[in-house]
Amino acid sequence: MFKLRFLTAGESHGRALTGIVEGIPANLELTEQYINTQLKRRQRGYGRGGRMKIESDRVEILSGLRWGKTIGSPIALLIRNRDWENWQEGMSIDQAHQGAIPAVTRPRPGHADLAGIIKYNQKDIRNILERSSARETAMRVAIGAVARRLLEHFGIKIGGFVTSVGQEQFEIELAGCDALKLHTLADKAEDSDLRVPDETVENKMKEAIDRAKKDGYSLGGTFVVFATGVPVGLGSHIQWDRRLDARLAQAIMGIQAIKAVEIGSGFELSRRPGSEVMDEIYPPESGKGLLVHRKTNHAGGIEGGMTNGMPVVIRAAMKPIPTQARPLKSIDISTGEQIEAAYERSDVCAVPAASIIAEAMLSIVLCDAFLEKFGGDSIEETETNLKSYLSRISG
Ligand SMILES: Cc1cc2nc3c(=O)[nH]c(=O)nc-3n(C[C@H](O)[C@H](O)[C@H](O)COP(=O)(O)O)c2cc1C
Repeated sequence: MFKLRFLTAGESHGRALTGIVEGIPANLELTEQYINTQLKRRQRGYGRGGRMKIESDRVEILSGLRWGKTIGSPIALLIRNRDWENWQEGMSIDQAHQGAIPAVTRPRPGHADLAGIIKYNQKDIRNILERSSARETAMRVAIGAVARRLLEHFGIKIGGFVTSVGQEQFEIELAGCDALKLHTLADKAEDSDLRVPDETVENKMKEAIDRAKKDGYSLGGTFVVFATGVPVGLGSHIQWDRRLDARLAQAIMGIQAIKAVEIGSGFELSRRPGSEVMDEIYPPESGKGLLVHRKTNHAGGIEGGMTNGMPVVIRAAMKPIPTQARPLKSIDISTGEQIEAAYERSDVCAVPAASIIAEAMLSIVLCDAFLEKFGGDSIEETETNLKSYLSRISG
């Protein structure tokens, strides 16, 4: 992160999640309602566990805004955990409550549990799982909404849809999708419980989730997130950590349970000859300047670590949820004996939610790269900088 910084804090069953985001210019219009709309999108989805019914996340903006607009100071956000009342002693910060609930001693394969207790010298796995839980991503979605608001102000739109759950696939040739096609798919996905743009495929996915639920296992899947209206030249080729593809891969991989990230045609690029997968360059439709035209987007909108004016397109893969009703083999860390892993109420499939979190992370990284390029302490200053750049390159 070069211009925008953020941190989140909070345990899954603690009092609240908090976040601070710094670097948003002054005079951006923002409301709690705008952020809440994104929080609501994260909570939808077929195959979610009981927790989604308890939560009904609402953000409180504590600082950084006055009379509906940002003032350039850090924006502090708060999301209260709705079932805190049931955990006040179990998750108390006060030593007087020690032992109020039994320790968790059965690490779940596929989770942070075992490595976490060893690394942090803990005897109760709860001290690890409370923070490794994807509950934390609610705050990332809230911070992502702030970034998204800024991008939207400058005509950059973010979207996404789910492309597979387990073996069930929604087939799509991403390299052939222009901005309009991508948004049409995302709009369709918005009306679907699983965020899939095709009802027939969605029904098969639902059946797969029902089978998994019945038999006590979980399912992963893949999704696409994208950004359109992105100006040429965000990110840079000059240093590894400035490359936008690298920054995006880290941000998306930083979401719990995401195990692979592709930019554009990704792995498919390695299987096809170079003659087929470079996006050839055609003169601008206006006939002047450097805002060229392309017929394909295998590069996913990024060449040499910089945006090239085409939609930024990313696909990611989520592994199945580790906690499963049919328990896996583990050991009890207090006795060393072979047992079955602990089961806490859990999602069967969270791929749709993961896609919303990925939209948030994409927004944050793009907002950072946008501010790095166009800077400014107020929105008006950023607008002037963008306008002057666009007039230079459009000829
Ligand atoms: C939206 C979302 C919801 C999740 N829900 C659960 C869950 O209910 N139970 C669970 O065990 N893991 C869940 N996970 C996955 C774990 O958080 C993740 O696998 C774990 O933190 C270990 O990290 P790793 O898979 O990246 O190694 C969820 C992940 C995401 C992104």
